[in-house]
Amino acid sequence: MKRLLSRDELAAGIDRLAAEVRGDCGDKPLTVIGVLTGSIVLMADLLRRLEGPIEVGMVWASSYRGTATRPGRLDLRLDLLPDLTGRDVLLVDDIFDTGRTLEALVASLHQHGAVSVRTLVLLRKPTRTEVVMNPDYVGFDIPDAFVVGYGLDHDGAWRNLPEICILDPADAEGSAGRPSAAQTTD
Ligand code: IMP
Ligand code: MG
Repeated sequence: MKRLLSRDELAAGIDRLAAEVRGDCGDKPLTVIGVLTGSIVLMADLLRRLEGPIEVGMVWASSYRGTATRPGRLDLRLDLLPDLTGRDVLLVDDIFDTGRTLEALVASLHQHGAVSVRTLVLLRKPTRTEVVMNPDYVGFDIPDAFVVGYGLDHDGAWRNLPEICILDPADAEGSAGRPSAAQTTD
C-alpha cells in the first residue's frame, strides 16, 4: 500500500475546498448532499468547516464493481433526500472517476426541485473522464490508480484508513477477507 495523500495534505485540501465554497456561496442557505458511502469522511470534515445556514442530506449511489477496479452498472437511491424545492445544493462525492455518478445525480437533484447544483469532490482522475461536466470544486487531481482510504473502499474494506493510499494487487486480494465474492461496493 503506497501513500498518495497524507493526513496533513488532506486537511489542507479540505480547508481550501471549504474556503472556495464559502467564497462562492457566502452566507446563503445551502443544502449539502453527500453520496453514500464513500463521502462520509469527507462530509464530516467539510461540514465542520462551512459556515452559514446548512441543511444536510444523503443519497446512495453504487457502481457494481465487486472486487474489480472498474465501474459497471450505476444504481441510485434518492429516497433519503430532504425537500430540495427552491434550494441551492452542494453535491459532495469522494471521487470523480468516469463522472457518470455525478452526472446522473445532478440531473436527479434538479428533477427533485433544486434551483442550483454545484458539485464537490475530494479526488478526480482527469484521464478517466467520460462525461462533459466537470466538478465545480476539486480537492486533488490524481493519476489513474485505484485508491482507498478516507472513505474510499475496495470490496468494502479500507474506508477507515486516515490517508489516501494506492491499492496494489496484493492488498486487493485481502480486501475485507473476501478475495473473490462479486458484490456491490460504492
Ligand atoms: P464514476 O461514476 O466513474 O465517476 O465513479 C464514481 C464512484 O466510483 C466513486 O463515488 C467511487 O465510489 C468509485 N470509485 C472510482 N474510482 C475509485 C477508486 O480509485 N477507489 C475507490 N472507489 C472508486
Ligand atoms: Mg461512491
